[in-house]
Amino acid sequence: MDTSVSNEDFLATVATKSNGAALRGDYEHMDAHYVVQQDWDAYTEAEHELWRKLYQRQLALLPGRACQEFIDALEKMDAADGIPVFEKTSKELFAATGWTIVAVPGLIPELTFFDHLANRRFPVTVWLRKPEEFNYIVEPDVFHDFFGHVPLLFNPVFADYIQRYGQGGLKAMKLGGLDELARLYWYTVEFGLINTAEGVRIYGAGILSSGGEVEYCLTPGTKSRHIRLDIERCLRTLYKIDSYQETYFVIDSFQQLFDGTAPDFTPLYEKLKTMDVLPANTLLPGEVELLPAPH
Ligand code: PHE
Ligand code: CO
Repeated sequence: MDTSVSNEDFLATVATKSNGAALRGDYEHMDAHYVVQQDWDAYTEAEHELWRKLYQRQLALLPGRACQEFIDALEKMDAADGIPVFEKTSKELFAATGWTIVAVPGLIPELTFFDHLANRRFPVTVWLRKPEEFNYIVEPDVFHDFFGHVPLLFNPVFADYIQRYGQGGLKAMKLGGLDELARLYWYTVEFGLINTAEGVRIYGAGILSSGGEVEYCLTPGTKSRHIRLDIERCLRTLYKIDSYQETYFVIDSFQQLFDGTAPDFTPLYEKLKTMDVLPANTLLPGEVELLPAPH
């Protein structure tokens, strides 16, 4: 399949969606799959220092909150001392699960993104946020992509799920199911929680790379809900892109994600076209909140 996307088309789409705001990355020097060189030598000492601060702040938040698979893999990745060399981790990752890391300028077209995932390549943005974005960043940067996403790619089942998601994305593009499928990525890969013998833990990269949401998402009594993941329900649920999530879907195992997404989604997308979408803070009749909440 030709998965190259015209860069002009992509940038024009982004400009439309973001009211004219441009993407930050350098889209001049890339191949047809939006892959660039990391150019590690170009990072400044101030950027490495900012990385170390981000890393230390997040690391301190993880015990008792992040799932153990994430913590263990992160430690082995040895990425505390500065912005990592992708190539080094990529080799280790390939040895562990057959995934590689590819450097990208920033956000990339959906087709290109799905094609990378379907081929077990994870796109990681090369640039680092500015110091004033320490607590909050709009577009994913290298800290979010690398710190948040790469550790769980060392887990064989989770790694297989992400590949299957990429294949599912390519299929959803043809079936008109992209908005629905994107919600699953959001509520699992980015903002997912998992039940463990020790209690509920975080596996979603959007939470794990966030200064505030790691603690927030596990705190009882906020307006956010924890509910058990049901795939159809998740695909109907709108999400927040500019605030903490109002619903966190909780899984019991990564195997549940892999098995739950094995069936053909074609009839599901058809069914969903006849159903209403649900606001991010919905609680349907019969649904159980897993965390004490004030409502
Ligand atoms: N199995 C789904 C289909 O046939 C695709 C999919 C895979 C969706 C993984 C989500 C995650 O369309
Ligand atoms: Co992400």
